[in-house]
Amino acid sequence: MSERVVSGVQQEGDSQVDYTLRPKSLKDYIGQYKIVENLKISIAAAKQRSEPLDHTLLYGPPGLGKTTLSTILANEMESPIKITSGPAIERAGDMVSILTRLRKGEILFIDEIHRLNRTVEEILYSAMEDFVVSWMIDKGLKARSMNLPIQPFTLIGATTRYGMVSSPLRDRFGSVFRLNFYDNKSMEMIVKRSATITNIESEIEGIIEIAKRSRGTPRIANRLLRRVRDYAQVKANNKISKIVAQEALTKLEVDEIGLDNNDRLLLMSIIEKFKGGPVGIDTIATSISEEAETIEDVYEPYLIQMGFLERTKKGRLVTERAYVHLDITPPKKNTTDQATLF
Ligand code: ADE
Repeated sequence: MSERVVSGVQQEGDSQVDYTLRPKSLKDYIGQYKIVENLKISIAAAKQRSEPLDHTLLYGPPGLGKTTLSTILANEMESPIKITSGPAIERAGDMVSILTRLRKGEILFIDEIHRLNRTVEEILYSAMEDFVVSWMIDKGLKARSMNLPIQPFTLIGATTRYGMVSSPLRDRFGSVFRLNFYDNKSMEMIVKRSATITNIESEIEGIIEIAKRSRGTPRIANRLLRRVRDYAQVKANNKISKIVAQEALTKLEVDEIGLDNNDRLLLMSIIEKFKGGPVGIDTIATSISEEAETIEDVYEPYLIQMGFLERTKKGRLVTERAYVHLDITPPKKNTTDQATLF
């Protein structure tokens, strides 16, 4: 799974490239226009009041730029940023230590914030609300809590699972933004920008081909661009044309809309083993030997966005559109669940 070329999850080899290609300011940031507009206003307002930015929760599928946006916010606010993640903060004491060391106006970025454990998370509540950390000292009968004031700061939380962020935590964010898959035009601009920065010779048709197959996800686009560049270097005098991009990506088994063998396997197993669904996520997970969480976070968002899969109360259902894309005849209309869909 980690080797999937079309996975939005960060892989070995991505991080250095992601870092150099990452836009550093909002003016270089392409796409997510509504979020960017809202953020510009929040930044201007916070600066005018000389206050830290509101606590902000960013959610959406992996690879869409949650960390990138956070580092941009820090740059725009001219604030330092500390980057950590939910699973990395194991004990309440670790969280207290992070919070009490923050400088005035600093941004604390917590990736995968839905994976904070309960006791660690509870420390955040008063820190976010009143810039105070409550800390128990002593044990047993002598136990008492001490309130430590901390510097005003901004928490930016990122998650692929909005539903798994507890409501007390969710309620303490002043702004909540959902990042969506990027549209085609934005993806083309992002691939073009990356090709220019890394001095890759390309024709616009080649750029468009890479953009089309990148599932609306910049991290995937940058990865595919690298793979196509390798192919062009070995097979085509270093130049990315439409044909070169098509050949390279077909060899990687990424089809013209960005589906790979794993997506096809998922759809085909629902079609062949469960008559197209509805079927529960755990049953699907077992049938393709994949974790349910990975299916929900990584495979499904794009398949749902493309209209290939539906989540219903009874389980997952493959749509007629998916049958057409896979070149399979959809089942005949009858009185079963399928009939209500097609
Ligand atoms: N590289 C990755 N994401 C980007 C974005 N949203 N805008 C510009 N370049 C990017």
